[in-house]
Amino acid sequence: MQTITFFATKGGTGRTVSTMALASGFLAMGKRVLVLDCTDEAKADPRRDTPTTLQRWRKAMSSSGVLEDRLQLLSCTTREDIEDMLASADTDGFDIALIDTRILPQEPQGAALGRADLILSPAIGEFEAKNVVKGISEYLVEPDNVLGLIPGCRAGAADIPATRAAFASIPILKTELPWSEAIGDQVVNGDIGHFTECLACEQFGTGYGRFREAQAAWSAVLALTVEVQWALDGLQLQPHVSEWKQFVTKQKASA
Ligand SMILES: Nc1ncnc2c1ncn2[C@@H]1O[C@H](COP(=O)(O)OP(=O)(O)OP(=O)(O)O)[C@@H](O)[C@H]1O
Ligand SMILES: [Mg+2]
Repeated sequence: MQTITFFATKGGTGRTVSTMALASGFLAMGKRVLVLDCTDEAKADPRRDTPTTLQRWRKAMSSSGVLEDRLQLLSCTTREDIEDMLASADTDGFDIALIDTRILPQEPQGAALGRADLILSPAIGEFEAKNVVKGISEYLVEPDNVLGLIPGCRAGAADIPATRAAFASIPILKTELPWSEAIGDQVVNGDIGHFTECLACEQFGTGYGRFREAQAAWSAVLALTVEVQWALDGLQLQPHVSEWKQFVTKQKASA
């Protein structure tokens, strides 16, 4: 089983959205997914009325027919919880564990970071990316398995270059998600039912714009998941060098 921990020392950078989006992507790839809720919300009183974001999402995924043996959500509050839950999911044949964390890495977040094959640090804008980089340098000793991730830019696509630049020397995944209702609503709410309803929309009929948006969002989620899987396997996307550029270089060299 491979383990990914989401890490950011600032609130609202997109850890939970990234957790849910990648869980959906890995499920679509046929993987069995364990999600560990290692956030402040997990520490909240279990008797309280309001379920956590991840609990609401899991419930909606159940309504869409995603069963326990494909997607398991567990809350953990201690280092032992993390160790035990990862060990038993591994024995039970789960493929991937995604760990959502709280802002400051105390325990059990330290265990979650220590156990990660890959640490993903999301940022939904330039300001968040700067904070994320600061947190990485403050808390991670040898951050050689950390990748930045843009789960959508709050200020719109125009803010993506500045957000990428703010990650400075931290390598970033090439795929980013769009900032859209389809991510903020459908993925978060596990609303596969709504998504498939959008897919059944007639071309240019009512709701066709929403269908296009949902389709683009889910394509991006899948592309991101593939890139993350490659990263787990030690591969990365390379910048494309066009044949024309190679041709010009060869021409110059031979001149
Ligand atoms: N691609 C997107 N499209 C639309 N909304 C998004 C997108 N990505 C993130 N959001 C929204 O941004 C907000 C912050 O995201 P999220 O809750 O995942 O951050 P977090 O790091 O888990 O925050 P917290 O500190 O509250 O746990 C949420 O309201 C979420 O719905
Ligand atoms: Mg969160």
